[in-house]
Amino acid sequence: MIFLKAYLTKKRKLVDAALHGFLEKEKTKPGVIHKAMRYSVFAGGKRLRPVLCLAGAEVCGGNSARVMPTACALELIHTYSLIHDDLPAMDDDDFRRGRPTSHKVFGEGMAVLAGDALLTFGFELIAGNARIKGVSSESVVRVLEVVAKGIGTLGMVGGQVADMEASGKKHSARELGFIHEHKTGSLITASLVSGAMLVGAAPSQVKALENYGENIGLAFQIVDDVLDIVGDKKLLGKRGSDQDNNKLTFPAVYGLELSKKKAQAAVAKAKKALGVFGERAKVLSALADYMVERQN
Ligand code: IPE
Ligand code: IPE
Ligand code: MG
Ligand code: MG
Ligand code: MG
Repeated sequence: MIFLKAYLTKKRKLVDAALHGFLEKEKTKPGVIHKAMRYSVFAGGKRLRPVLCLAGAEVCGGNSARVMPTACALELIHTYSLIHDDLPAMDDDDFRRGRPTSHKVFGEGMAVLAGDALLTFGFELIAGNARIKGVSSESVVRVLEVVAKGIGTLGMVGGQVADMEASGKKHSARELGFIHEHKTGSLITASLVSGAMLVGAAPSQVKALENYGENIGLAFQIVDDVLDIVGDKKLLGKRGSDQDNNKLTFPAVYGLELSKKKAQAAVAKAKKALGVFGERAKVLSALADYMVERQN
């Protein structure tokens, strides 16, 4: 796993530098919105989705530098989802990435707008990826569609809707799977697939990445649920509100031990899906293990 740590450090640095370059300066009028956007993006964050986008390109034999605008877009879109997820009308959380949440600092109206702006700018960045040499406009259009679908009502937003509707209700295992696959798995899968498509991946490679993404996405959200209860709040940078909100989570339905086993099983399935990539799958295979070993 030492090589994975080095890989993550390297890629995170590249992503952060690119994000700094892409995001509007705080002074640009209206200053408050640009400040709010940067506040949440640069509060920390594991940069998992951009890393998956870069790794998705690499595992298909592509040059990941070519997909950097899209990788950054995925982080912006993810950050939008976190800002809205924390709002009083949703999970009502006061801490995120080790800082007070956006609405605590900028007020609810501005937090809604910061989310809107990050989402919108994300799509602008993806469209702009077409200007990078070696990337076809056709693949960019496909990625725009994949990302929009992945975060819309059939993806992330749909999952968030189901998550809200299930809160405080009788727990159903079936609904739980739907929530996790959609609210978290969809964007993770879209991240992998975007990177692959932009470098001209074959359909069989895209299919394998979908299968891998769905399984690591599930494992990732199960572990998020587990850490919500047992995790170190300082390391996590958030306080954990699932029990207070009576959320439908894996530990609530299966208990902690069985939840961890289910996450492990999903990781095993994910790794199996990597067969078509041979030796190149080393990074993604280690990333699958990281889903369950992570402490934050
Ligand atoms: C948190 O995502 C929200 C979930 C989908 C579980 P991350 O755990 O990736 O959050 P950051 O980006 O590292 O802050
Ligand atoms: C959030 O799930 C998923 C999205 C933001 C789409 P959670 O509500 O479990 O995420 P955390 O625990 O607040 O990060
Ligand atoms: Mg939530
Ligand atoms: Mg939440
Ligand atoms: Mg959570």
